[in-house]
Amino acid sequence: MKLLALVEEAASRLEAGGVGFGHGTTNAFDEAAWLVLWSLGLPLDALDEHEAREVDAQEEREVRALVEERIASRKPAAYLTREAWLQGVAFYVDERAIVPRSFIAELLAEGTLDPWLSERTRKVLDLCTGNGSLAVLAAMAYPDVEVDAADISADALEVARINVDRHGLQDRVRLVQSDGLAALPGPYDLILCNPPYVNAQSMAQLPAEYRAEPELALAGGADGMDFVRALLRDAPSRMSDEAVLVLEIGNEREHFERAFPRLEAVWLETSAGEDQVLLLTRDVIAGLTRNP
Ligand SMILES: C[S@@+](CC[C@H](N)C(=O)[O-])C[C@H]1O[C@@H](n2cnc3c(N)ncnc32)[C@H](O)[C@@H]1O
Repeated sequence: MKLLALVEEAASRLEAGGVGFGHGTTNAFDEAAWLVLWSLGLPLDALDEHEAREVDAQEEREVRALVEERIASRKPAAYLTREAWLQGVAFYVDERAIVPRSFIAELLAEGTLDPWLSERTRKVLDLCTGNGSLAVLAAMAYPDVEVDAADISADALEVARINVDRHGLQDRVRLVQSDGLAALPGPYDLILCNPPYVNAQSMAQLPAEYRAEPELALAGGADGMDFVRALLRDAPSRMSDEAVLVLEIGNEREHFERAFPRLEAVWLETSAGEDQVLLLTRDVIAGLTRNP
């Protein structure tokens, strides 16, 4: 059997199995290609190159078993392969941390934040770091900065440790266990944060793949804004004068604007549109604290 035919067969099985997407792919064909290429030990971006390769009977059996595991377990593919890719960089992941898919990764890789930074940008915080991917990407994008990577979850920080070591960034990325900003005096010049922000109604409707992830990583309370409220209250005291906060809020713009109606946010464009990630200067956040 040719590799492409096996991908098409796997895609049909995934569709018939009713799996959910959103953890690195958005459709059955891409998810099938990921599982097939990974199972065969081929680079995940090399489908075109290898599509005519013959797959032997043993390899076929292994691919089919992996696809069936994906359907039966409803775990995101990244938990089965123990690997997720962001902006061409490979990260280890397992069930102790959410599968990384933050759009802030694009902003770091594409230099979108650069106009907001300067040569004085030295201290960066990745708050809610999960598997550490944004901290690693920030350290890669800005070779002169030091990054604190913080999370409340000791489990997630163990996964982040693997990624910091894997990318040789032990000297520049420090892992800190912290509930919000409690253990983080700062001051920081740049804070990145992809927090738990899913509102309670959406939480109840999430596909099974999301329930395979730590609930702590997703649930943001009734309107999704519990963590964000505390963050905006505490952030100014942890930011240097020129600092900015880059905050991801997923599909919760309506809830965000209802919670903070007078806040002058700069909405940053990503491949998901212009309402998933926003930027706030220290002055803007401090103004909110003065006139809530
Ligand atoms: C949406 S995940 C983001 C993970 C990672 N930054 C990424 O983009 O893949 C949110 C993370 O926030 C962490 N978290 C939840 N509540 C927290 C709190 N009160 N203080 C610090 N981290 C928290 C969770 O453990 C989880 O790792």
